[in-house]
Amino acid sequence: MVLIQLSSLVSEVSHGQAFLGLCSLLISLIVILLIRQLVKQRRPRGFPPGPSPIPVIGNIMSLATEPHVFMKKQSEIHGQVRYLNYCGNIWHIMVLNGYDAIRECLYHQGDVFSDRPSLPLFMKMTKMGGLLNAKFGNGWIEHRQLASNSFRYFGRFQKPLDQKILEECMFFVDAIDEHKGKPFNPKHLVTNAVSNITNLIIFGERFTYDNCDFQHMIEIFSENVELAVSGWAFLYNAFPWIEYLPFGKHQKLFRNAAKVYNFLEQIIRRFSEGRVCNFPRHYIDDYLNKLDKSAGDLGTPYSRENLIYSVGELIIAGTETTTNTLRWAMLYMALYPNIQEKVHKEMDSVLGSEKSPSLADKKRMPYVEAVLHEVLRFCNIVPLGIFRATTQDTLVSGYNIPKGTMVITNLYSVHFDEKYWCDPGTFSPHRFLDSNGNFVRREAFLPFSLGKRHCLGEHLARMEMFLFFTTMLQRFHLQFPPGTVPSLTPKLGMTLQPLPYSICAVRRQQ
Ligand code: HEM
Repeated sequence: MVLIQLSSLVSEVSHGQAFLGLCSLLISLIVILLIRQLVKQRRPRGFPPGPSPIPVIGNIMSLATEPHVFMKKQSEIHGQVRYLNYCGNIWHIMVLNGYDAIRECLYHQGDVFSDRPSLPLFMKMTKMGGLLNAKFGNGWIEHRQLASNSFRYFGRFQKPLDQKILEECMFFVDAIDEHKGKPFNPKHLVTNAVSNITNLIIFGERFTYDNCDFQHMIEIFSENVELAVSGWAFLYNAFPWIEYLPFGKHQKLFRNAAKVYNFLEQIIRRFSEGRVCNFPRHYIDDYLNKLDKSAGDLGTPYSRENLIYSVGELIIAGTETTTNTLRWAMLYMALYPNIQEKVHKEMDSVLGSEKSPSLADKKRMPYVEAVLHEVLRFCNIVPLGIFRATTQDTLVSGYNIPKGTMVITNLYSVHFDEKYWCDPGTFSPHRFLDSNGNFVRREAFLPFSLGKRHCLGEHLARMEMFLFFTTMLQRFHLQFPPGTVPSLTPKLGMTLQPLPYSICAVRRQQ
């Protein structure tokens, strides 16, 4: 009896000891992991300074709300070149603020700053192929060249592109007219009209404004532009295994992408029917011809998959940006009737009420040009550019930046750089005019970024903005519904867009 009690006591004691041992082992393991994490989390030697990171998540919280504003404020205290810790240094991030730092890197070290970071999200979406997300190298060069040739040679077999844009402008103003001066949200109309210009280049055709399938595709695609900078997307980039969690916004992003690619595959097949070699009708034909010619070449960057990725990238890069610029432009015209009045005055004196605007009129409309430039500066359509990465070790403002560092270009900080802009927080088209009212280019104006990866569609976007804006304002006076003023707070994604608003487009009596 005594023996049994003794043995159970011994066993209880040894259980307790084992439990205590296990606990202390676990605690030591956690402490070791934490110390390892903190050591890892230290700023790499030679890197620029940055805000103190929180253990494990680093500075991820700084990217949560208005990261462009946060980064600019930080740079005012600590310098233009900053370091950000992303989830314990899984990614080294350098943030460039202000015109001087961005020019030093993107322009003076063009080759070094022309890569894209192989973030898990980009890998998942486009396998770093296609065009916009492609790694710097032959594949990117070939895809960029092919796309810019398609833009340039559009019209070889049909009307010049500006004529086609003007045709779309007519559909656009007719659709606005259907609202008969009553309030409407211009988002869908502007999106459809703008995307049709890219559609003409890619597919050789426009889609009618009631094409639900295309509209749905654009909607979920632009939802992805927002989701791509959501907290879940940042988490996925740091911990890709969360792909296997059944919940989270990243799952929505993947589902949307799958639907978009499926839709694109179908329409690419439809529009490539009847293709005749050497007589490309549009970008798809051009691409498929290249694909055919490179058959058997194992190193070719052309593939059906890369075709889908690049078509998707061209559609979204061309639509989201120009649409948001025009939506902001409409909003600011209604907000500042005195500026709108000057636009109307200039247009009336150059065009009258009958003549349609054309690109040739641009030079004679410096005020319109100044307004569109100020919208691009003030509204910062792509506030943080598109993430870049370094192709080799380099030196920036005395800091050692290793190859593969992710680079964020804070374009917002360029447009609000006090060294180059007087009173940058005020919307004032006059900053783009000289004392004689002539349009003047400004150096620190980079809405399309700079260097080898600068926006491929800049020329096209400028044509679209001018023609859509002038055609619309020639006919209409824009005003908010009585008693309303919409919020000017932007909705944050990869782009900054206005929150949905209603506007009245009232026919002008000239
Ligand atoms: C107002 C309109 C637009 C703005 C503000 C804008 C802005 C930008 C910016 C900031 C970049 C990032 C460049 C970088 O990596 O630093 C970019 C890239 C790009 N944009 Fe645009 N964009 C506009 C219109 C367009 C249009 C109309 C198209 C084509 C249809 C287009 C196609 C592209 C492409 C393909 C890239 C990636 C270039 C590359 O990686 O080589 N964009 N754009």
